[in-house]
Amino acid sequence: MQTPVNQTKLFYYSPTGTSKKIAHAVCKGITSNQLSETDLTFMEAQAEQIHDNQLAIFVMPVYAGRIAPTALQRMSGIQGRNTPAVAIVVYGNRHYDDALLELCDVLKQQGFTPIAAAAFIGEHSFSRKEMPVAAGRPDECDLSIAAQFGEKIAEKLQSGDFYQELTVPGNYPYKEARQQPPMAPESSENCNLCGTCIEVCPTRAISLSDNRIVTDAAACTLCCACVKYCPQETRIFNTPFTKFLYENFSSRREPEWFI
Ligand SMILES: Cc1cc2nc3c(=O)[nH]c(=O)nc-3n(C[C@H](O)[C@H](O)[C@H](O)COP(=O)(O)O)c2cc1C
Repeated sequence: MQTPVNQTKLFYYSPTGTSKKIAHAVCKGITSNQLSETDLTFMEAQAEQIHDNQLAIFVMPVYAGRIAPTALQRMSGIQGRNTPAVAIVVYGNRHYDDALLELCDVLKQQGFTPIAAAAFIGEHSFSRKEMPVAAGRPDECDLSIAAQFGEKIAEKLQSGDFYQELTVPGNYPYKEARQQPPMAPESSENCNLCGTCIEVCPTRAISLSDNRIVTDAAACTLCCACVKYCPQETRIFNTPFTKFLYENFSSRREPEWFI
């Protein structure tokens, strides 16, 4: 007989906070399970085996049509044993391309059985006030859909019938990661050295040196947490990509789930 799944282990990587919001909203819908969560934004997960009475949920942002590489690295020590898992990607209203397929594949390689998957929309990391891309998302509507998705997951767990192969969109070979020259956001001269950017950087790429903010472009993942959380709004990532996204990917996309 199958062990009842009565606990949820939530893992997320979320430099600008949108994946975290979706993660919490989905778990709100799974009321029957006791929840424990691990934020992978600032640290790698400790090696861990997820038990068969647990459901593992992974929520990760999409970078260039794939899962953010740092997120994959941070979750690499988490293993299942045919453990049911949910794959969720959050993307900035352009597209998630092969990211959901990639996350499901990685979960299988790590011993999990994906039983549900979803793609939600979050404000694009490169969105700016004057050129907004999915600004304010996930909004109330997205969060309500996320909670409904959680309810569907709970129903599936209750039914116990969750070992059918799950099919999600995506292609092989996955979208190739394009090599970019190292670049990074910059602090303008109005920066008051408050240090928020240093604290919120998931890869510790920012430091204070000789009374100025220094960014190690080689370590920067362009997540833009430093830009989003700068209280003075003096941190900027100036990229032509913002205008491109604003002009081409402003029409609202909606969440999708697969169960
Ligand atoms: C380097 C980089 C690449 C991105 N690539 C994509 C992409 O291919 N498609 C898309 O729609 N959004 C893309 N985004 C936007 C993020 O997926 C989106 O803003 C997401 O909500 C960020 O999640 P977080 O708030 O949890 O950090 C990219 C963001 C960054 C920083």
